[in-house]
Amino acid sequence: MKGRFITIEGVEGVGKSTNLALVADLVREAGHKVIVTREPGGTRTGERIREILLDKEEAGMTPMTELLLMFASRAQHVEEVILPALDAGTWVISDRFTDSSFAYQGGGRQLGIERVAAMQQLVLGAFRPDLTLLLDLDVQTGLERATANTEADRFESEQRAFFERVRQVFLELAKSNPWYEVIDAGRPLVEVQASVRAAVSSLLDRQ
Ligand code: TYD
Repeated sequence: MKGRFITIEGVEGVGKSTNLALVADLVREAGHKVIVTREPGGTRTGERIREILLDKEEAGMTPMTELLLMFASRAQHVEEVILPALDAGTWVISDRFTDSSFAYQGGGRQLGIERVAAMQQLVLGAFRPDLTLLLDLDVQTGLERATANTEADRFESEQRAFFERVRQVFLELAKSNPWYEVIDAGRPLVEVQASVRAAVSSLLDRQ
């Protein structure tokens, strides 16, 4: 049987890493093989592209270049890692996927949803996640959490209005895509994790 593809999305500082680890544990406990991966990145080529994308020295990068690099990383990731794993019955859990391009490049950078949809069609065809967990949190709180202990990268250096646009696109995607689960990440961690557990259990039960 084929594996399932779970993605975790959200603005900065919503607690993706903690919840990603929980999802991986739950799927593993259910007896499946699991790969945890991320975007941009997830392959040797993709990790090199990621370095360019996050580098604050790349201040002159145009939004279109940024979009193309995100999809260059994704094309490599899907072909080299994700599809072969799913075909082998392994579950794949990715820290971000295409919906981050809709939100950050389409919304944040204001390239528009149509351009991102065209790239999605070109690179992915009809391939979509089986479950997307959207960790939703007030932008200000998220940014404070994200930059508390680390230096801001090229994205984290953006203004609040940028992240408000990012958040809005994620919430719109959640309305039109039935595989989305919106999780209020502003609650205490135990409550957030209970919601994550429920969403993952429901996918596991569908096997
Ligand atoms: P990530 O590693 O999730 O960073 P963080 O843990 O700080 O949220 O993602 C790196 C950055 O890349 C993040 O700011 C969002 C951005 N990004 C896009 O702009 N478009 C995309 O398609 C993806 C996958 C990520």
